[in-house]
Amino acid sequence: MRLNKKTAIIFGAGQAPGETPATGNGRAVSVLFAREGARVLCVDRHLDSAEETASVIRDEGGEAHAVCADVIHEDQVKAAVDACVEQWGRIDILHNNVGISVEGGDAPVTEITTEAFDRIIAVNLRSMVYACKHTIPVMRKQKSGAIVSISSMAAWEDYPWVSYKATKSAMITLTQQFAIQNAEYGIRANVILPGLMDTPMAVDRRAEAWGRPREDVAAERDAKIPLLGKMGDAWDVAFAALFLASDEAKFITGAALPVDGGRGLRVG
Ligand SMILES: NC(=O)c1ccc[n+]([C@@H]2O[C@H](COP(=O)([O-])OP(=O)(O)OC[C@H]3O[C@@H](n4cnc5c(N)ncnc54)[C@H](O)[C@@H]3O)[C@@H](O)[C@H]2O)c1
Repeated sequence: MRLNKKTAIIFGAGQAPGETPATGNGRAVSVLFAREGARVLCVDRHLDSAEETASVIRDEGGEAHAVCADVIHEDQVKAAVDACVEQWGRIDILHNNVGISVEGGDAPVTEITTEAFDRIIAVNLRSMVYACKHTIPVMRKQKSGAIVSISSMAAWEDYPWVSYKATKSAMITLTQQFAIQNAEYGIRANVILPGLMDTPMAVDRRAEAWGRPREDVAAERDAKIPLLGKMGDAWDVAFAALFLASDEAKFITGAALPVDGGRGLRVG
C-alpha cells in the first residue's frame, strides 16, 4: 500500500451530479488514496456528496469521514483541518481539488463582472491559501507532509475565461512558493494540471447548460486529444496525485505535472 496509515484531507471530495457513471476528480482521488491505505477526511460544500464519497470508501473497507465546509470561509476551512487533527492526530496529505469556472459566472476579460471575478478567486484560489495556512503549521510540527493541488492546463493554454485562467495560473506559482518556503520542514508541494477530463462537472453540467446531448460534448472534447483521441478521466488525475502524495515522490517538490494526453504539446 502506497499511503499506508497516512492521513489525508481532501477539499472538494464530492462531485457535481451527472447522469453517467463518470467520477469527479475529488471522489476518485479520495477513493484511490483510501485503497492505498490512507485515512481520508472528505470535505465538501455539499455534505451529502462528501458523505457519498466517504461511504464508497467505507463500503470497500477503508476509513473515511465526511465534513461540510464552504472553502470561501476561513473558519470553515480551519474547522475541517482541526477535525482531521482531532480525529487522527496528524495530516500527511492535503489535497486541494475545489474549482469552479463558468458556473461561477466566468467570462472573457471584456465581459467579466466584479462579482464573478471575486467569487472565482475566492473559491479556486483563496481556498488554497486558507487550506495551506491552516495545514502547514501541523505539517511543520510533524516535519513532513505532502500538498497536492489541482490546477488546470487552462493556466498554460489559450483559454477564453479570465478568472479561471488567473486562479489556475496562480495556483502553480503559489505551489512553488509553498514548496521552497517549507522544504526545510520536509513539506513537499506539487500541482497537477489536468487537461480535458471526462467528469460530470466538465461534461454533464456543460451539456445541460448548453442544451446539447452529452455524447456531442464528449465527442468534441475527445477530438482535441492527441493520445488515442480520447479524454482522460478522474482516475488519471487521481493516479498522478497518488504518486505525488506518496513517498515515491519524496524528492519531488514544486513540480507542475500536466495530465492531458499530450494536448499541451500542440503548439501553433
Ligand atoms: N474536469 C476537467 O476537465 C478538469 C480539467 C482541468 C481541471 N479540473 C479541475 O479539477 C477539479 C475538480 O473538477 P471536477 O470536474 O471533478 O469537478 P466537481 O465539481 O465534480 O468537483 C469539485 C467539488 O468541489 C466542490 N466545491 C465547489 N465549490 C466549493 C466550495 N465553495 N466549498 C467546498 N467545496 C466546493 C463541489 O461540490 C464538488 O464536489 C477542479 O479544481 C477543476 O478546476 C477539471
